[in-house]
Amino acid sequence: MLDIENLRVEYRPKGFRRPPFVAVDDVSLAIAEGETLGLVGESGSGKTTIGRALLGLAPVSGGRITFEDTDISHLNRRERRVISRDIQVVFQDPYSSLNPSMTVGDILSEPLRVQGVGGREAQARIASLLDQVGLPQDAVRRLPREFSGGQRQRVGIARALALSPRLIVCDEPVSALDLTTQARVLDLFLDIQEQTGVAYLFISHDLDVVRHISHRIAVLYRSRLVEMGDAIELTDMPRHPYTKRLLASSPVLDPDKQAARREERQRLSYV
Ligand SMILES: Nc1ncnc2c1ncn2[C@@H]1O[C@H](COP(=O)(O)OP(=O)(O)O)[C@@H](O)[C@H]1O
Ligand SMILES: [Mg+2]
Repeated sequence: MLDIENLRVEYRPKGFRRPPFVAVDDVSLAIAEGETLGLVGESGSGKTTIGRALLGLAPVSGGRITFEDTDISHLNRRERRVISRDIQVVFQDPYSSLNPSMTVGDILSEPLRVQGVGGREAQARIASLLDQVGLPQDAVRRLPREFSGGQRQRVGIARALALSPRLIVCDEPVSALDLTTQARVLDLFLDIQEQTGVAYLFISHDLDVVRHISHRIAVLYRSRLVEMGDAIELTDMPRHPYTKRLLASSPVLDPDKQAARREERQRLSYV
């Protein structure tokens, strides 16, 4: 469904003759219908930039992004609006990504209105979206601040689902949540995929989170992919030293596992 070929994203710094900064370098990956591809890597490795390039928010300096055989690397605003029915996004911080002065009802109406859906049809759609993400119906009249972090993220997910997209870019969508809430929201992502067949590009710095939700995992290191494969295989038998380090540094709750990870981390710091 989605094909990213040799993607390169350069940022041009201000100032005469300063070389461009390469945030993403020669990245190729594909996502099939209904699949979750986890994208993992440390802070600054270029994860968000890949997601933004996909959404038309970062410049594609080289390579190509195709969605269902349509080149979407360089769309104009009208073409982008059309494709935004199919490709949506959930951000990390549910608070800053939701307008604090809009009710949840207004927040969910907005994407529908942009695509020309209003009135009764919109109301019915919003009611079913709230159901789908496990929020009460009276949420429509309430403001984001009246909700907990996990519930706010459910609002963000409902907004992304409003137009029945085929692919959702999830950029660290559980990173701001406590561990129990993380687990619940991850389960919600899984349920939604089962019901709708939506695909996810699931971005996280936490390999444990990504392993839980992904079919396949791609590992990004300093703007390049270093390893990609089946989620279980890659985390059970990581090949690249960076993946091993990442695995050793992701937090686990089980104290025995924790101790084993700590030893592993010490061993790997000499690699
Ligand atoms: N708009 C921008 N202009 C210049 N540099 C940027 C911009 N956005 C991101 N970068 C740089 O690109 C690199 C990758 O950033 P990002 O994709 O946000 O990484 P990640 O999401 O993996 O933490 C970082 O070094 C960051 O500073
Ligand atoms: Mg990021």
